[in-house]
Amino acid sequence: MTARWVRWPASHTLADGTRSADAAEPRIGYGADYNPEQWPEAVWAEDVRLMREAGVNIVSVGIFSWALLQPAEDTWDFAWLDRALDLLHDNGIAVDLATATASPPPWLTTKHPEILPVTRTGETLWPGARQQYRPTSPVFRRYALALVAAMAERYADHPALAMWHVSNELGCHNAYDYSDDAAAAFRVWLEKRYSTLDELNRAWGTAFWSQHYSAWAEILPPRLAAAHPNPTQQLDFSRFTSDALKDYLIAEREILRAATPDVPITTNFMVMGEMKGMDYADWASEVDIVSNDHYFVGADPLGFQELSFSANQTGHLTGSEVPEPWFLMEHSTSAVNWQPVNLAKTPGQLRRDSLTHVAHGADAVCYFQWRQSVAGAEKFHSAMLPHAGADSAVFRDVVSLGADLGALAELAGSTARRSRVAILFDWPSWWASELDSHPSDLLRYRRQAISWYSAALANGIEVDVVPASTVGSAGFTGYDLVIAPMLYLVPAPLAEALADWARAGGHLVVGFFSGIADADDHVYPGGYPGAFRDLLGVRVEEFGPMLPGTAATLDTGFEVSLWTENVAAGDDVEVLARFVDGPFPGVPAVTTRAVGDGRASYVATNPDLDGLTALVAQFASLSAIPSRLDAAARGSLEIAARETADAEYLFLINHGDAPVTVPGIDGVDLLGTPVADGGIALGVNGVAVVRRDRDPGRDTPSRESDTEGAPA
Ligand code: GLA
Ligand code: GLA
Repeated sequence: MTARWVRWPASHTLADGTRSADAAEPRIGYGADYNPEQWPEAVWAEDVRLMREAGVNIVSVGIFSWALLQPAEDTWDFAWLDRALDLLHDNGIAVDLATATASPPPWLTTKHPEILPVTRTGETLWPGARQQYRPTSPVFRRYALALVAAMAERYADHPALAMWHVSNELGCHNAYDYSDDAAAAFRVWLEKRYSTLDELNRAWGTAFWSQHYSAWAEILPPRLAAAHPNPTQQLDFSRFTSDALKDYLIAEREILRAATPDVPITTNFMVMGEMKGMDYADWASEVDIVSNDHYFVGADPLGFQELSFSANQTGHLTGSEVPEPWFLMEHSTSAVNWQPVNLAKTPGQLRRDSLTHVAHGADAVCYFQWRQSVAGAEKFHSAMLPHAGADSAVFRDVVSLGADLGALAELAGSTARRSRVAILFDWPSWWASELDSHPSDLLRYRRQAISWYSAALANGIEVDVVPASTVGSAGFTGYDLVIAPMLYLVPAPLAEALADWARAGGHLVVGFFSGIADADDHVYPGGYPGAFRDLLGVRVEEFGPMLPGTAATLDTGFEVSLWTENVAAGDDVEVLARFVDGPFPGVPAVTTRAVGDGRASYVATNPDLDGLTALVAQFASLSAIPSRLDAAARGSLEIAARETADAEYLFLINHGDAPVTVPGIDGVDLLGTPVADGGIALGVNGVAVVRRDRDPGRDTPSRESDTEGAPA
C-alpha cells in the first residue's frame, strides 16, 4: 500500500455561496453509504441539507446501482448519478464512488445464468438478493469490467471523486463458489502452486482413501462428499478462494488506475466476526487505502473487545513499520437487521464505538447507511437518518459525533501507537485449525485471539494484532511479548523465525493446538506441538478435548474448559500451573522456559477470562511490561493512543457498566471533559481524547514513560 489518502476536492464555491474547505485542511472523514436511487429526487435536497448539519464530508455512492446505470445490455443511464454527484459537490461533500459491480442486474443473470454461484451441496444461488455472481466467471467479468470502464470514463474528471470503491465487501455471500468455473480456475491455481501432479499428490496425501490423481481434470473443489473431504484439498480451496477474489479486485483496480492514476482505490474489507474467507493480510497491499466494515454484535459478551480487536487488526494489516491510517467504511448507528435479535445501541454507544475505531487509527468514520430505507431487506437496519427523521436521538447523536470529529480534525494522519505486546493472526491457521475431522469441532481460532486480546485489555495493557507474515520484518520490531493463539499451521521458516526472535530476547507465548502442522497440513511427528516442541521444552503425546458444559481446574484456582493436553515438561522448564482434575490430573498446563536471552511459554488449555487475565499479568511481568492503568480502572477502561511528531493523543474509553475516574491526567480533553484534580471522570460509554504536547527534548515519550498506574 502507498501512503496515499482520500483525494479531498479543491476548495470551491458551494450552492449557498460559501467556500468549501481547502483540500489540504486536515479532517476526519465522516459519512455513509448514500443510496439516492432509493428516493425521489425531491428528497435529495433535504439529504444534503441534513448531511451538512451533521458535518458529513464524504459519502459512498452507487454501490448497488448496476441495474439502474445499465438497465439493458445496450442502454446506459448515468444522468441521475451525474445529478447526485453534482448536488453533493455543490454542497461540499466528497464522493467515494463505487464501481457498482456488486449485484448484477436481472437482465444479465437471465441471459447468462451460468454466472450464478453454486454451493458446496450443488444448489444454485439465484438472483433476487445480491452478490449473485461467480468471482471466477469469465462472462461475469466481461460485463462487470465493462461497467467499471464506463464508470471510470464517465467520472474520471468529476470534481467530487475522492476515492474509488471496488465492488462491495468482496466475498460477502458468494466467497465459496463450487461451480464448474470455480473448478476450472482451481485447477489452474493448483497447477501454478504444485507444477506437477506428483507434488500435488504428495501435498494432499492422496495415498489415503484411494485419492491419487492421474490428471488435472480429475480434481474438483471440495464439494459435498460421502465423508470428510481431503483436508489439504479444503485448505487449498480456501487459499484459492481468497486468491480468486483478490484477483478480481486487481482486475477492477487496474482499469481504475489506468483511467485515474491519482485517485486512491479501496475496497471494503470485513474484519469482523467469523468472516474468514479473505486473507486480508495478503490483500492489504493491493489497495491504496485499507478500509473496513465492522458491525457490533450486541449479544457477544466480548462485543466491545471484538470491536477493539477488529479496529486494531485493520490498522496492522499491511504489516508496515508505522501503522497507517485506515478508513472505517461501514458500521451502524444502532441496530442491524441480520443478527437473530438486533439490539439497539445504548445511550452513548454510537459515539463510543465510532471513537474506538478512531483510537486505533481510523481517519474516517462512515456508516451503512445515510437514510434508513423504507423498502427492501434492510429497512430495519439503523442509519444516520432513521425512519423517525431528524427529530430523533440517533440523528442528534450523529450531529454531535460530527462535532466531536471536527474537534479531532488535527488527528488526521497521526499514527496509532504501537504496543510492546502483539498477538499473531494468520488466515491459513484460521482455515486449517477449524477444518472438520479434528479432535474437537468446538475450537474457534478468532475467538481464541479475541480472548487473549480481552485479557490484555483487562490488565490495562495495549496489544497489537499483527499478521504472522510480519514476523522477521520491520513491522515486527518493538514487540517484547508475542502471543500465538492456536497457531496450528506453522511452516518451518516461521517456526525458526519465532525461535530466533525469542532467543534474541523476546518472550513467545504459544497457545494450545499450535505448531501442529506444516504448510501442507501434515502433522509434525514426534509429539506435539511439533513446530515449537524444542523451543518450549514440552512434549505432548495426546490431546484431551472436553465436552461442552464440562470444566477442569488448575492448581492456581482458575477454571479451564474446551481443551487440555497431556504435557510432559523438560527439566529446565518451569511449571506455572497444573491440572487438578479433568482428563490429565497433575499434568503441567502452563509452562515457561528461558531460551537464550528470551523466553518461551506454553498454555496447553483454555482458561476462562479471569484465568487468562491472570496469565497475561504473569507473562507481562516476566517481560517487565507494566499496566498503563490504575487497578480500579482495569477491566472497564481501554486506553490507546495516536501520535504525531508534536503531540500524543491518549484515548480513554469507558466500556464498563459504571462511571470511572482516571487519575494522573496531564493534558486537555479535545472533546471537552474537564480535567479536575489531575483526573478525568468518564460516564458509561464515555470517551476522552487527551492531547499532550511532546516535550521538545524527548522524541519517543510513549514507551519510556511507562509507569504502573498512570495513563501513559
Ligand atoms: C470450504 C473451505 C472450508 C470451509 C468451508 C466453509 O469447504 O475449504 O475451509 O471454510 O468452505 O463453507
Ligand atoms: C454490509 C454491506 C451493506 C449492508 C450492511 C448491513 O456491510 O456492505 O451494504 O448490507 O452490511 O449491515
